[in-house]
Amino acid sequence: MALAYNHDEITPRELKPALLEMEGISRETIEAHYKLYQGYVNKRNEILGALASVDLAGANQVYSELRALKVDLAFAIGGIKNHELYFEHLGGHGGDPAGVFATLVRRDFGSVDAWRTDLKATGLAGRGWAWTAYDWDEGRLFNYIGDAQNTFPVWNATPVVALDVYEHAYFIDFGTDRGAYIDAFFSNLDFDVVNDWVQRYGVKP
Ligand SMILES: [Fe+2]
Repeated sequence: MALAYNHDEITPRELKPALLEMEGISRETIEAHYKLYQGYVNKRNEILGALASVDLAGANQVYSELRALKVDLAFAIGGIKNHELYFEHLGGHGGDPAGVFATLVRRDFGSVDAWRTDLKATGLAGRGWAWTAYDWDEGRLFNYIGDAQNTFPVWNATPVVALDVYEHAYFIDFGTDRGAYIDAFFSNLDFDVVNDWVQRYGVKP
């Protein structure tokens, strides 16, 4: 059982070699990006360690150590989960999805093109992330928007595509042309990975 004050350390997942050989998104970008991810893991470990000895009697909504640690823990954990999705489902050959994910996309967006257009627009409108996630209460996929690692996830929705639109994801390769980066993101998606997740989660079309 993992108690609330358990602060076992976690370690970063290894980077898939295919991520260093992508079209459009350079090795330089991925290596720098992976270091940021390692930073989120380190800070998550550090924050949980600090929480183990925080003074609960000092809790205060304006400022307190507990508040600061828990707010930034959400940022660090978001940074870990978002980037684990991002790195895991890149390194593929893009194109159109097949399998269960394609069926879900056509059902919930009308077509693959409509899904892609909506996700790209959501990525252009966000300041940090855009996610395709399955909302278990509504029983459908939707493209959600994020401004940071910890905004704005929706409870009981499971992300299956995670599009990082922080400038660190593309500035080296594309300058300010985020749209071109998003096109490269789609070209390097591995839909087999996405379909594995969808099947493992038991999402039914
Ligand atoms: Fe990132």
